[in-house]
Amino acid sequence: MLVWGRIQRQNNSRRNAVRTFTQDKALAFVQNELLWGAAAGSCRTADRARRYAEAGMRIVPSGSDTMLKRGGNPGDNFYCDEDGNSINALGIPSPGIDVALSEIKKSRKEANRFGAQSWASISAGNEFIADEYHDMAHLLEQNNAADVIGGNFSCGNMVLPDGTYKPIVCYDLGAFEDGVQALAAGAGNKKTEVKLTPTTERRFLIANVEICLKYGIDYITMANTVPNCYLEKPDGTPGISMVLGGGGGKMLIPIVTGMLKMTVPMLKGTNTKVIAAGGVDCGAVAYHYLKHKAAGFVFGTALWKRNFDPRVGQEIIMGDESRNLPGLVDLLVKHGLPD
Ligand SMILES: Cc1cc2nc3c(=O)[nH]c(=O)nc-3n(C[C@H](O)[C@H](O)[C@H](O)COP(=O)(O)O)c2cc1C
Repeated sequence: MLVWGRIQRQNNSRRNAVRTFTQDKALAFVQNELLWGAAAGSCRTADRARRYAEAGMRIVPSGSDTMLKRGGNPGDNFYCDEDGNSINALGIPSPGIDVALSEIKKSRKEANRFGAQSWASISAGNEFIADEYHDMAHLLEQNNAADVIGGNFSCGNMVLPDGTYKPIVCYDLGAFEDGVQALAAGAGNKKTEVKLTPTTERRFLIANVEICLKYGIDYITMANTVPNCYLEKPDGTPGISMVLGGGGGKMLIPIVTGMLKMTVPMLKGTNTKVIAAGGVDCGAVAYHYLKHKAAGFVFGTALWKRNFDPRVGQEIIMGDESRNLPGLVDLLVKHGLPD
């Protein structure tokens, strides 16, 4: 009985193993190990890339960019409510990859100067053409324009010339596989990322992750925005000109957490890591995702809401006294991280 009790205690302590942190260790973890920073769509210039990297962010994005120039959707298309839910329908404005390339290269230089990685995001335009992922990734790789080349397979707010909406590729598993394969081939030896749509439907989510594993994708970002959401301003008018748009911010937290719970066990023994995106605007949400085994996190809504102020990142990491919010470093020291 005594021996059995000891074995049980050992098993429990192994199950509940926690990585502990001193303040210095937590800071070193955040600066050197953790992948965190701005989400795709929140940086399109080298100047902003420098300001993000200077503020300590380790992921500095560019894009999403498309093969051909596109204007995106007309009107005022970002809104965030008091509860931290956002809606946007930008529709991927891009000058086209050939024109964007020089700014992406400059952004990488700025990011690297401060020890950050540049993550370039590419997307199909109105039509889904898998080869475009190959050609754009190859162009970025040949020009050494980014540290990580990411494929956005999940934008839900692209209105086509006939007024219909472009389908989300993550739900078309054949097309998704063609796109992921093309991205991986075009990116060569560069690290790759795939951005998924927020879905908790296993038929799609599990298959999406299996495809990413099949092609050795390095990072899976969960998730893009929820398509066709509706948010109202306090006066009862639609939050954005396009009326329906991609829901982001706080509304994503339970969805992204569910996605993590279902897919993290699939990554055991692989080199693929998950990056959480959804409602990170303080240390507590960042810690929540790390506790559920994300390897890092990125934030978009929090930056758009604050006009891309890089201090957003510092407040997530170090806390915000004015709002009495602890930072990620405090939470790591207080609770550690489950192994
Ligand atoms: C205004 C806006 C523009 C965005 N543009 C892109 C984009 O170009 N490419 C992309 O992959 N994701 C884009 N996203 C999605 C974000 O990268 C992120 O995945 C999502 O918003 C969830 O994170 P959040 O809750 O921190 O905003 C955009 C989000 C917002 C709010």
